[in-house]
Amino acid sequence: VGLWRRTLGEVVDIRDLQNLTLPDRLSVFRGQRVLITGNTGFKGSWLALWLQALGAEVSGYSLPPPTVPNLHELIRSVSNIEQTEGDVRDLGGLRRILGRVEPQVVFHMAAQPLVRRSYAEPVETAETNFIGTIKLLEAVRLERRPTAIVVVTTDKCYENSESTRGYCETDRLGGHDVYSMSKAAAELAVESYRRSFFPETGLEEHGIAIASARAGNVIGGGDWAEDRVVCDIVRALDRNEPVALRNPDAVRPWQHVLEPLSGYLHLAAGLLGRGEMPTGAYCSSWNFGPTRESCRTVQELVECFLAIWGGGSFEITAKDLRRHETKTLILSIEKATKQLKWSPRWGFRESVQRTAEWYRAYYNGEPHAVLVERCTKQIADYINGAEDQWPATQ
Ligand SMILES: NC(=O)c1ccc[n+]([C@@H]2O[C@H](COP(=O)([O-])OP(=O)(O)OC[C@H]3O[C@@H](n4cnc5c(N)ncnc54)[C@H](O)[C@@H]3O)[C@@H](O)[C@H]2O)c1
Repeated sequence: VGLWRRTLGEVVDIRDLQNLTLPDRLSVFRGQRVLITGNTGFKGSWLALWLQALGAEVSGYSLPPPTVPNLHELIRSVSNIEQTEGDVRDLGGLRRILGRVEPQVVFHMAAQPLVRRSYAEPVETAETNFIGTIKLLEAVRLERRPTAIVVVTTDKCYENSESTRGYCETDRLGGHDVYSMSKAAAELAVESYRRSFFPETGLEEHGIAIASARAGNVIGGGDWAEDRVVCDIVRALDRNEPVALRNPDAVRPWQHVLEPLSGYLHLAAGLLGRGEMPTGAYCSSWNFGPTRESCRTVQELVECFLAIWGGGSFEITAKDLRRHETKTLILSIEKATKQLKWSPRWGFRESVQRTAEWYRAYYNGEPHAVLVERCTKQIADYINGAEDQWPATQ
């Protein structure tokens, strides 16, 4: 981890973040051994960076990065995150990494995360997302070490009734497509393992505090996945083509990547005994969505992005009628705001702006270290609640 001198002439160090006045709860990660599955992915890369900035010893267990380019490679060039290549369907591999790292916290994020790909690869999606979660829980059971575990699922785990009320944690699970089903099944796996092997009432004895987290549609710099709106936008802009919109009227809970990650961190802190409630009260499922203001249509997101970018166009293409697309998906975050005292910080426009600026810098050829520094700066701003002071790249 080094110092990077950016064009503005100011020196920023990832370790500077450790000197910020952190909410008491987030300082709990300083010196903690943390394992992230899926650390080579979009959200995992941001989380690894954030945890490292908080002073955690971060290890990762994942398949190689799912895309080229990817944020993980950018971050690796300036960080000391320990990375083990491994498959979450491999129980032996999971046991070995748990035995070696002896993590005090595990964030389980490894997944096949794309709805459309789940139509092409249903079995692989179910094996990775459902069986992979079972294998992780089983490895934890067999290794028997006190651990706080956050299993990341999705807002799509709810049986979708096109309601605008906002799904809450007690709503029925379901899943029209295989991705959603596999994540609903992962939720059931967590519930079942908690009840069978890690009950809240026996925490003092087994020491394994486990929770699941359901977030919305995440945007932010450094994602190049197929079939995600922002990724489609930047690819189209890079090729100087109009952005193709399949489902412009679909309403989604858009949020900057730091929002759900901050929810996961607050939740893990609670599981580590740093919350206001008894540890057992955190051992359940939690929604980390945006406010209603950020529940917008796909078209609104594209229009906002292009306006901030200052160019580009879009065209509405024929819908793929063979694929089911949910029209409305909104999460209730009442539980997290009331009980966890977590709430979203960045509104719709700011989230889009932070995202667009990062990609513009990337496509302008900004050096890797400076791009990573942009991430670090966004994390610092997020923690500080600061407005964006980074000048847009020309
Ligand atoms: N990005 C979103 O909008 C969003 C929204 C809701 C939930 N989620 C969930 O958040 C998590 C992270 O999503 P992301 O957007 O970072 O996805 P991503 O595709 O960028 O990353 C997925 C990660 O999982 C790893 N992986 C995939 N299969 C694996 C296997 N069999 N064994 C080990 N590692 C494997 C990949 O190598 C990668 O590190 C996923 O669980 C996803 O379902 C994402």
